[in-house]
Order: sequence, then structure tokens, then C-alpha cells
Amino acid sequence: MAQLELRRPTIKDLDNIVQLDQVCLGGFWSHQSYARELENSQHTLLVVATLGGICGCGVSWGIAEELHLVLLMVHPQYRRQGLAGLLLCRLLQLAHQRGDRQWATLEVRASNEAAQQLYQRFGFELVGRRPHYYENPEEDALIFWRNHLNTPQTGQELQQHWQHWRSRVEAQGWLLIDRT
Ligand SMILES: CC(C)(COP(=O)(O)OP(=O)(O)OC[C@H]1O[C@@H](n2cnc3c(N)ncnc32)[C@H](O)[C@@H]1OP(=O)(O)O)[C@@H](O)C(=O)NCCC(=O)NCCS
Repeated sequence: MAQLELRRPTIKDLDNIVQLDQVCLGGFWSHQSYARELENSQHTLLVVATLGGICGCGVSWGIAEELHLVLLMVHPQYRRQGLAGLLLCRLLQLAHQRGDRQWATLEVRASNEAAQQLYQRFGFELVGRRPHYYENPEEDALIFWRNHLNTPQTGQELQQHWQHWRSRVEAQGWLLIDRT
């Protein structure tokens, strides 16, 4: 049975994360940007999924009461099998457990319906638009928002999500090892 591991990456994972970014996002962040984020463990939370190599990654920033979801990516070979759901759930759970993050927000390309559907399943709502926010190609960003991140009810909802996405990845025949 293949092992699906969720864990915090280290500097040794840097090259593989940058390669994944190239494949999934066309080079959203450089090697140097990821290195900076890995060093900034006070504000940045990175979680990777590995199946042998790194196949998924999620990044969030914690800024006072706010959790900002910065990126989420899954290798095309492993999409639609619940990995992004699992990664997003874990990022939100880790923020919820701290108790001081009250809301979560993110920007997403207006054309990225796959990601928008995923965020909406986690209770994110569309609250605004930033015109011409993205380059290459130029596109508006949609702003999504989720309140009540630190409430007990959200804790229960996230626990239900975790069970759902966990079953989903285990149905692929992967043994989940959670080291987050
Ligand atoms: C968006 C992305 C992270 C989704 O990864 P994934 O592992 O395939 O997503 P999951 O399998 O966990 O899907 C969870 C849910 O998201 C939604 N979703 C995911 N891909 C979708 C698609 N192609 N079309 C419609 N909905 C989709 C669905 O609601 C899905 O649940 P379902 O399969 O039960 O319908 C992946 O497509 C990706 O890496 N895209 C490129 C990078 C990117 O756009 N990241 C987001 C902005 S940073």
C-alpha cells in the first residue's frame, strides 16, 4: 500500500516544491521566495503531501486575527482524489487550533472554478474583486472570506471535513500518515 504522508517541509524539499510550483502554477514563487517562507516559520505555515515525492503543497500566512491562504497546488497526475481537500483542511485545522485566528481569506483567479468550488465547500464566501490583480495572463482576483475560524462549531465542521477527505484519499488505496 502506498504511503501518503502529510508533513511540514524542510529546506531539503525546496527544489521539489519549486518544481511542483512550475508544473501547477507556472512559477508563482521563485526558489528564493520559498526559501524565505520556509525560514519564516513564525508567520508561514507550509504543509506538503508526499507519495514518494512531493505531490501537493499548501501555504498560509498568519497575520494577527487573520489566516491568509496563499497557495494550494496538487500535481496534475494526482488531482481529483481529495489531496487539495486534505491539505486545505489541515491548514485550517492548524489555524483553528491556535485559537487566535478569527477569519480566513484568500484571492483566486476569476477563471479558476476548480479552486473556487473547493473553497466554497469549506464555507468561504465571495466578498469582492480586485481588478487586474494577476499578471501572465492578466486577470481579476476574486476575494473569498470565511468567518468564525476559531469557534467550536468550526472545529466540528473541520473534523467532519477531515474524515471526509481522509476517506477519499484512503479510497485510492493510500495509507495516510499524518505528521503535521
Ligand atoms: C485547485 C487544485 C489545488 C485542486 O486539487 P485537487 O487535489 O484536484 O482537488 P481535490 O481532489 O481535493 O478536490 C476537492 C474539491 O474541489 C473541487 N474541484 C477540484 N477540482 C475541480 C475541477 N477540476 N472542477 C470542478 N471542481 C473541482 C470539487 O468540489 C472537488 O470535490 P469533488 O471531487 O468531490 O467534486 C488543483 O486543481 C491545482 O493544483 N490547480 C492548479 C493550482 C491552483 O489553481 N491552485 C489554487 C489557487 S492557488
